[in-house]
Amino acid sequence: MKALCLLLLVGVTLAADVVDPKTCTTFPCLIFNDEFDFLDHDVWEHEITMSGGGNWEFQVYVNNRSVSYTRDSTLFIRPELTDRWKGDGFVSSGELNLWGMNGRGDVCTGNSYYGCDRFGNAVNLVNPVMSARLRSLPGFAVKYGRIEVRAKMPRGDWLWPAIWMLPRYWPYGGWPASGEIDILESRGNDDYGDLGNQYGGTTMHWGPHWPLNFYDKTTAQYTASDGSFANSFHVWRIDWTSTKIDYYVDDVLVLSVDPGTSFWDFSGLGSEYDNPWVAGEKLAPFDQKFYFLFNVAVGGTNGFFPDEVPATHPNPGPIHHHKPSSTSGMGVIVGCPAGNRVRVASVKALLYRLITSRCGR
Ligand SMILES: *[C@@H]1O[C@H](CO)[C@@H](O)[C@H](O)[C@H]1NC(C)=O
Repeated sequence: MKALCLLLLVGVTLAADVVDPKTCTTFPCLIFNDEFDFLDHDVWEHEITMSGGGNWEFQVYVNNRSVSYTRDSTLFIRPELTDRWKGDGFVSSGELNLWGMNGRGDVCTGNSYYGCDRFGNAVNLVNPVMSARLRSLPGFAVKYGRIEVRAKMPRGDWLWPAIWMLPRYWPYGGWPASGEIDILESRGNDDYGDLGNQYGGTTMHWGPHWPLNFYDKTTAQYTASDGSFANSFHVWRIDWTSTKIDYYVDDVLVLSVDPGTSFWDFSGLGSEYDNPWVAGEKLAPFDQKFYFLFNVAVGGTNGFFPDEVPATHPNPGPIHHHKPSSTSGMGVIVGCPAGNRVRVASVKALLYRLITSRCGR
C-alpha cells in the first residue's frame, strides 16, 4: 500500500501540476507548473492542420514524436521536411489528408483555409515542412496572475516560433474580438536585418471584429540580451491583473498595457460600431480565461517575413530568394540542424488572489 502511494505521488509530481484555484488558501498560489519531464496529454494536445490561418504559413502541424517530444525535462518542437515523411517529390504530386491522422477518429483540428486536405502539383506545393503546435486547451486556462515561460528559440530561416495564448471560450465573438496574447514571436533567421533571431516581439491583438485590430497600440519589439533568442534560454513573464498587463523578458519590462477606462475607449472607435466588451470588466476582452499555445510556424505570405528586408535595416541580404513559397519549399531550416528547434523548459502560472464573482451588477 505504501509503495503504491509513493508511486502515485511520483506520478503526480512529474506531470503538469494543475491546481483548482478554489483550493488556494495562501497567495501567491502556484496553480499550474509543467517542467516537461514528460508530455502530459491530460493538459496538452497537438493541433493537426495545415491551415496556416490567414497568414498562409507553410507548415503542417502534426502529432509525431520525431517532431515534438520531451527530453531532459524540456519540450522540443523540431521542424522536419514533409518529404522526409512522405518521400521525395511528395509535396509536388501527393495528397496530404490529415483527417483521421491520430488513429482515433476523424481528427483534424483546423479545416479553414484548406487545412485538412491538400493536393500538391507543380504550381501549388503541399506544405513543405512538418512542425507542431501544442495547446493547453484540454487541461489548463487562466485569467489574471503571473505567467512565466522559460524557453529557447530556434535558429533557421523562415522559422516563426510563438509562445502565445488564446481565449478559452471566445466570449466576445470571433478573432480578434475575444483577444489574443502573443507573449513572444520571433524569427529564426540569423541574417535578416532587424527582424532576425536577435529580436523578439510581444503583442496583444484586439478589436471589435476583423479587420479592426488595434494591436499596434499594444506591441513591443526588443533585442536579446545575449545577442540572439536562439543562443540560450530566456524567461518571458506576464504580470496580469484586473487593471493592467506588464510583460517582462528576463525581468526587464518590455511592454506595459493599461487601456485607461477600457479597451473600447483606448481604440478610439466611435459609436458607429457596437462595443462587444460593454458587459466586461475594465480589461475586456482580457478579463477571461486564456490557454497556452506553443508552436513553430514556417514562412507565410502575410508580410511577417517581408520579401525584401527594408533598406533602413542593417545587413539587408538577398535571402528572400530562399523564402519558401507555394511554389518553392527550398531553403527552409538550413543552418545548424541542432539549433532549429524550439525548446520550452517550463511553464508556470501563479495566482495572487482568488478571483471571486463580481458584485453589484
Ligand atoms: C514522423 O515523422 C518522420 C519523419 O521525421 C516519419 O519518418 C514518420 O513516418 C512519421 N511518423 C508518423 C506516425 O507519421
